[in-house]
Amino acid sequence: MLIVVAAETHAGEHRVAATPETVRKWVNQGHRVRVAASAGLAAAIPDEAYAAVGAELAGADALYAGAELVLKVRAPQEAELAQLPEGSALVALFDAHRYAPRQWLADKRLTAFALERIPRTTRAQAMDVLSSQANVAGYRAVLKAAQYYPRFMPMLMTAAGTVKPARVLILGVGVAGLQAIATAKRLGAMVEAFDVRPATREQVESLGARFIEVPTDPSQTAETAGGYAREMSTDYQARQAALIAERAREADIIITTALIPGKAAPLLLPPEVVAGMKRGSVVIDLAVDSGGNCPLSRPDEAIVTDNGVTVVGAGQLAAELAADASALFARNVAAFCALLTDPEGRFAPDFADDIVAATCIAHAGELKPL
Ligand code: NAI
Repeated sequence: MLIVVAAETHAGEHRVAATPETVRKWVNQGHRVRVAASAGLAAAIPDEAYAAVGAELAGADALYAGAELVLKVRAPQEAELAQLPEGSALVALFDAHRYAPRQWLADKRLTAFALERIPRTTRAQAMDVLSSQANVAGYRAVLKAAQYYPRFMPMLMTAAGTVKPARVLILGVGVAGLQAIATAKRLGAMVEAFDVRPATREQVESLGARFIEVPTDPSQTAETAGGYAREMSTDYQARQAALIAERAREADIIITTALIPGKAAPLLLPPEVVAGMKRGSVVIDLAVDSGGNCPLSRPDEAIVTDNGVTVVGAGQLAAELAADASALFARNVAAFCALLTDPEGRFAPDFADDIVAATCIAHAGELKPL
């Protein structure tokens, strides 16, 4: 099979979908691999590293000729789609609900697999790009906060006096939130965290942080069967808002990661709460691309409010740690692609497989329902 690793075109996207480690495996299995020239540079992978493990390198003109399986981090837009051979297969993050050129997939009879739809099951863990990239984002969020915060994170006792530790509040304790807690603790901050799913209390406490509890409504479960958060009752939301407003007044740094699959991100930090925060404090909103947990955040911007709070919209943090983010992403992709071939190495996905079925969004001229 001819596997093509494309270069990313989206501004600020520094990751790459395959690394020399994963390319080597495919070459050893007998596949041909063609990598776009310079595709790995922003992730600190030179072209020679791909060539050394047996990849062909190609410029944009010769990249897609004969391609059977195309790998990307972010799904291609119209101009790139136009270059893909009819009937080829494509593996990428599509953000399928918001992917404008979806009809093109059917028109070009492409077989498209959306990595963000990989189920959260034990068998799929090695392919779970949302987890691997959220882990990177949670780490990076704390470093970004530290960069804007005009004080130390740890407590220091110096000859010039004592420095108080930063108080960090994490809202949303999924994969990104847990890594943010661990990273902030390593930097010496005092950390507290909140999530609607009561199951997160133990995880928060096991990392040495304090869990903030909103008294729960016994008639409503906060968690879906798949482990994701539900939208909560208005009454619960009011109690949650009051508690967050109180904790926000004390916080130096707030990192928000709360998402509800298929819906707009929940509003956790309204402008009046930010107005009550201390001058010099920092908000990092990881949910900004889904509407934001704080309505003041703007994608890839840092705004400073009238009361001196820096609000950063940071939806693409994994791309800022491109080398390791790519290494993890590429392993996820390689594990997923192993489901797409038969024992002879031909492209032959088993559409009855639950992971293949959940991720496939287009095949043989038809779009699958989302
Ligand atoms: P996510 O990115 O969908 O959401 C982030 C966090 O925001 C979640 O913890 C969610 O509960 C929380 N949240 C939503 N609304 C909120 C609100 N109003 N206030 C405060 N917090 C709110 O979550 P992620 O990181 O994708 O993880 C979702 C679940 O999947 C977790 O239970 C996680 O442990 C589980 N998971 C399971 C895996 C597996 O079994 N293979 C792999 C990865 C995650």
